[in-house]
Amino acid sequence: MNQENSSAKVEPRPSRRGVATELHETIFELALNRSFFMPSNEIYGSVSGFYDYGPIGFQIKKNLENMWRKKFLVEEGFLELQSTIVTPEIVLKASGHVEKFTDPVVSCKKCNTKLRADHLVERALNVKWDMKLESIDKLIRDNGLKCPSCKEGELSDAYNTNLMFETGIGADSAHAFLRPETAQGIFTSFPRVFRNHGSKLPMAVGQIGRSFRNEISPRKGLVRMREFTQMELEYFFNPSKIEMEGFDEVKDTKVRMLKRGAEKPEWITGTQMIADGIANQIMTYFIIKEWEYYVDVGLNPDKMWFRHLGENETPHYSQSNVDLEVETSYGVVEISGNAYRTDYDLSQHKKFSGKDLEVFIQDEGKKILPHVVEVSMGVDRLIFCLLEHRFREKSKEKEWEWFDFPPAVAPYEVAVFPLMKKPELREPAREIAVQLRDAGLNTQFSYVGSIGKRYARADEAGIPYAVTIDYDTLEDGTVTIRFRNDGQQERVKKEELAEKLKKYKKEGKFTL
Ligand code: ATP
Ligand code: GLY
Repeated sequence: MNQENSSAKVEPRPSRRGVATELHETIFELALNRSFFMPSNEIYGSVSGFYDYGPIGFQIKKNLENMWRKKFLVEEGFLELQSTIVTPEIVLKASGHVEKFTDPVVSCKKCNTKLRADHLVERALNVKWDMKLESIDKLIRDNGLKCPSCKEGELSDAYNTNLMFETGIGADSAHAFLRPETAQGIFTSFPRVFRNHGSKLPMAVGQIGRSFRNEISPRKGLVRMREFTQMELEYFFNPSKIEMEGFDEVKDTKVRMLKRGAEKPEWITGTQMIADGIANQIMTYFIIKEWEYYVDVGLNPDKMWFRHLGENETPHYSQSNVDLEVETSYGVVEISGNAYRTDYDLSQHKKFSGKDLEVFIQDEGKKILPHVVEVSMGVDRLIFCLLEHRFREKSKEKEWEWFDFPPAVAPYEVAVFPLMKKPELREPAREIAVQLRDAGLNTQFSYVGSIGKRYARADEAGIPYAVTIDYDTLEDGTVTIRFRNDGQQERVKKEELAEKLKKYKKEGKFTL
């Protein structure tokens, strides 16, 4: 939680404008110019913390969500639902969000800027906040910290502010909030879904959807947004049965783990994670799956690690948390949280709704409230980290910056280009694009601009293969495959094209 310290050292790099910039500034510039993402409602002077995905970024986001859906839901036989965003107050009173979902703020007595107090002291003094408001006041007073915005103003005492967006339902404006996490909709629908889907534990339900947090001073682009997308999984189980099906297959897989009190992450196996008391078998299973997911989508394993949170950093609903942290030019960014939520949520909803949420366990002959292990992953922070990790500089071989995305993540797996716009090439090229789409390849078709520019644009969007149709194609039925990573070309027969591309994709072959 709140781990955006600047311990990750990334060298400043020269920008195209000749001013020393950080990598995230370059990424932001590229994102704007290449339709990855952009500030929402830009023509009105956008409000911070809100971003739209452009045609290229949206494809990447969709791919990441679908890969998550496949790995965490479909392959496991788990369920998926979609719950509402507007949430009546009582639900979030029960979950503890009305009372406890707060961040500490200080305001400047001179310019009135509101600042995230924990970030302020952590950044200015390079300390780790102990989660007590009084400590912030003491650190500010003892060190004479002033407003970093106007550089002069005294700072107020720290106070807590709730992060939820409030709204009203209907003519009476019944108090409600935009959900701060997708999880609660899964808990409130638990009894019906349980009844309708076999009435047996374990049962797991996931959801991909928007969450809302009225962050105090959102900077850092996709890292701190006020509206963002989460991919969450709630695994309901009997706490006396914590064996996880499939654990044996992953128990020896190693992930990088920053243990409590340790300075550096170390590679440990699933078995070791359990022996060290970091997580139970269920949570360990999901931590390993997560690691696999992040490696598959293209994060750099040397720049990420799990961190076992200290007790005072663990959220109010959780008995133990393990976050995934990533090194970026902004510093360390948390992109997912794994929590052992115990029966906290169901027991709170039982109390507040007055409904019996216990389930009957046949072989124990008694009713219990299921426990929950949660996987909570954010899509937007992942996209930002991927853009940083897969960014490639211009080189002698390639005169433009590009992204080295795995095909499954790239906005398109293949781009099809007629050498020129002329109809006699355009129509056969369109047919090839249809043929590739029919073969299951995510294909872009474009004939605008010179062929050199189209290759450059495909590289810039991270598309691994381009296929070109030229006059030889009309004569001998061959086309060229151009490989993104080295720009080399191979001539192949049209009929063999789809199979070749699928083979190369499977082998991870991006150069001739
Ligand atoms: P932070 O401490 O950085 O505010 P958090 O600990 O509050 O983050 P969680 O509550 O654990 O974050 O949320 C789960 C996941 O949802 C995060 O790992 C992240 O990927 C995503 N997420 C949370 N807040 C934001 C946000 N403001 N913008 C983008 N993604 C977010
Ligand atoms: N569902 C966990 C979180 O959003 O923090």
